[in-house]
Amino acid sequence: MTAGPPPSGPQPPCPLPKAELHLHIEGTLEPGLAFRLAERNGVPLPYAGPADLAAAYAFTSLQSFLDLYYATMAVLRRADDFADLARAYLARAAAQGVRHAEIFFDPQAHVARGVPLAEVMRGLGQGLAAGGERFGVSTGLIACFLRDRGPGAALDCLDQLRGYRDQIIGVGLDSAEVGYPPEPFAEVFAAAAREGLHRVAHAGEEGPPGYIWQALDVLGAERIDHGVRCLEDPALVRRLAADQVPLTVCPLSNLRLRVAASWADVPVREMLDAGLLVTINSDDPAYFGGYVDDNFQGLERELGLDGETLRQLAANSFRASFRASAPLRPAAVLPAPPARPAPPARPAPRPSG
Ligand code: HPA
Ligand code: ZN
Repeated sequence: MTAGPPPSGPQPPCPLPKAELHLHIEGTLEPGLAFRLAERNGVPLPYAGPADLAAAYAFTSLQSFLDLYYATMAVLRRADDFADLARAYLARAAAQGVRHAEIFFDPQAHVARGVPLAEVMRGLGQGLAAGGERFGVSTGLIACFLRDRGPGAALDCLDQLRGYRDQIIGVGLDSAEVGYPPEPFAEVFAAAAREGLHRVAHAGEEGPPGYIWQALDVLGAERIDHGVRCLEDPALVRRLAADQVPLTVCPLSNLRLRVAASWADVPVREMLDAGLLVTINSDDPAYFGGYVDDNFQGLERELGLDGETLRQLAANSFRASFRASAPLRPAAVLPAPPARPAPPARPAPRPSG
């Protein structure tokens, strides 16, 4: 039997295989799912329906987004809700070429609403396992501390997470940035490092370059989330480039939150030209108008990035992932490993006899 003629007409683009490294699972709550969960849990949403909710996504700053993001997650009440959310994300992510995802969640935002951490962890665990297998995506969870709730609350959060140590690969720092520098979180990040957890931090999204320096030097962050404001500080750019610290840049997020006024202000080209290890990510895709490959397509369409550059960005995402599980660089807050004795110059002679 001979194969039929190749299909004619334009083929759907095949998304590049990639890892997603900056994705808040709560930010994948699509309006339709939000309303289904609202009904299932008897939690009213102050909108007429999904279209009315989506029409409210006209943000003017990070805070204007966070207000809606925290309010809408009220519909997430039970383990099944978190499982449905995680599975729905993985279905969409796989269709966008994602093979591996390191996924943020906000434990404090749920516990503060009276949702037990056990429900959150059980649901995310189930949804990621089932969806990961069904859609062929490997995953890891990163628990983020809410910087506007302060370091004491973050330490309490880390204590609670100890019961779920095998379910998380790392900790992060998110929520309102300006006025909440990383430095006060030194103790909780050091404690996380002692637990063997990876460390990342949002910095340089709305906040100044100094927050990136603190994330690196005080928190021992292995990756910087966003980090676009690093370009204001040439010494910082040199440091990030020399150490090849991954930056998880989120173009559609930057546009929707007015971090960038237009595509021309999304500094991906400048960052690549400066030798930075840039990765492209979706942040809160249900709110920002697209998933990760939509970000790639925007870079191609609006900034004219060519195929080779897009492939480089996709390759960077695997290189910057924790999949290999070893930290990419020694963490500043970890004590130096004990010195190893120098290896013998030549193999020791076999014992005879
Ligand atoms: N920045 C800070 N905190 C967040 C974000 C973000 O883009 N999304 C969800 N929490
Ligand atoms: Zn984020």
